[in-house]
Parts: sequence; C-alpha cells; structure tokens
Amino acid sequence: MPQIERNGVKLSYRVTDSDGPPVLFVHGFPLDSALWDPQIEALGEAYRCITPDLMGFGDSDAPDDPDRYSMDSYAYDLIAILDDCEVERAAVCGLSMGGYVTFALLERAPERVNALVFADTRAEPDTPEGVATRTEQQDRVRAEGPGFLVDLLVGGPVLSDHTREHKPDVVEQARRVMDNPAAGFIGALEAIKLRPDSSELLPRIDVPTLFVVGENDAITPPEISRDMHSRVSGSQLAVVPDAGHLSNIESPAAFNGALAGLLGSL
Ligand code: MLT
Repeated sequence: MPQIERNGVKLSYRVTDSDGPPVLFVHGFPLDSALWDPQIEALGEAYRCITPDLMGFGDSDAPDDPDRYSMDSYAYDLIAILDDCEVERAAVCGLSMGGYVTFALLERAPERVNALVFADTRAEPDTPEGVATRTEQQDRVRAEGPGFLVDLLVGGPVLSDHTREHKPDVVEQARRVMDNPAAGFIGALEAIKLRPDSSELLPRIDVPTLFVVGENDAITPPEISRDMHSRVSGSQLAVVPDAGHLSNIESPAAFNGALAGLLGSL
C-alpha cells in the first residue's frame, strides 16, 4: 500500500494499476478505504481508482489530538495523495463524511476536480443538538472505546432493514470497515461537528455531478439528495433500491451502474 507523510502523519492509500481516468474515492465515518472494494472490483481496471484511508482510519496514522482533524485537513491530505499519484484532476466520489470532505476539496482546490459524486451525504452542517450528540459520543469513546458506536450504527441507522434481514455478509462487511482506532473516531467526530455549511457551493458547481442515495437511508434521507440535485444544474440523481446509508456496499450493482453512467459520460 503506498504511503505518504504530511505534517508528520503517515497516510496510506490504494491505487489500481490502470491507465484509465483517475477516480478518487473518499470513505465515510467511521470507515476506511475497504468500503470501496465493490467499486474497485467493478471499475478498477477501466479507471485508476485511488482509495485513501483518511487520517485516523485504516492503515493511516491516528493522531490523538482531535484539533488536528478537520474537513480542510482531510482535503489537503487528499490533494497530497493526488500529487503523489501525479494526478492533476480526478473525478471525486465521497460517501457521507467523504461527501463533507469532497465539499472541502471543491472549496479549496476546484481545479483538481473534473466530476463529482456525492453519495448519501448532505451540504448542511450539524444542528446544535447534533453537535451535542457528537460530543457525548466522543466522551463515551474516550471512556469505553468505539465498540458501542459500531453496535449503534450497524444495528440502527447505517443499514437498511432489507440488508440486515437478507444480507448478513454485508452486515459483517460494515462491521469490518468500522474496525478503527478510538483516536480516529474522536478526531473525525470533531471534524464532523465543526464542519462548515457547504450549501452555497452547490449552485457554483460546474462539473458533471451525480447524487446517489439509498432509498432507505435513515441518516441522509433521499429528500436531501433530491434537494441538492435541484440546486446543481445538469446534475443526475440515482436512488438505490434496498439500500440504506451505505448504498455502495448494500446494493453495489445499482450504485456501480449509476457511477459508471457518470464516469462513462466524461
Ligand atoms: C458517515 O457515514 O460518514 C456519517 O454518517 C456522517 C455523519 O454522521 O454525519
């Protein structure tokens, strides 16, 4: 797995051995790059798929200081990874927190982006109640580790009932990609709760854009994607059947079809 170092932090990423156009995949919270395995399997030969582990997750370092984590710091890490791959512009596909990071990347370095996929995400920041819940979760992760939050997410809002009832392997897969250090959880929660409002970026987007969302996403329900879609002229919307918040692993064929449609149109 290639690694770079930025500000003393080691960052790992995977990249497929392809001469095709580059696609940068940004995972959500509290996941890692393995989230994108079904997309790499389907698209990794035709596209140069770059899948980083954000700081705090997977094989990347997880600094203890939560103040080091922000959507901007994640975005600058991604820019450093694109530089390391000698990629000037990539299609960027971010799921949930990965979408928040994608907005930050778009704000800081729009010249590095030639297409956008926002999966199961939103542009608005947390409400004050949401921020308070994140702080409680940080305190609890500090006290007892992240297991309770993994149980809460996998048993609750992250997967659709259909997935929980019919796809035990996907439930296991979701659990596996959440096996990350406490410092990564705490740092990402800090970044999430302090993230800015990115709504104003939507009408300014001028690259091909796809919004994709699980039809039963309980964290970022389809109306949120419909609303973002209505604010980005020429954008596409795909609602993925039988899927919750992790639409790319719950219904990979439908997700990949929508993604391939956008990428094929570039
Ligand atoms: C994610 O999947 O990245 C999280 O659900 C994001 C969030 O909790 O806001």
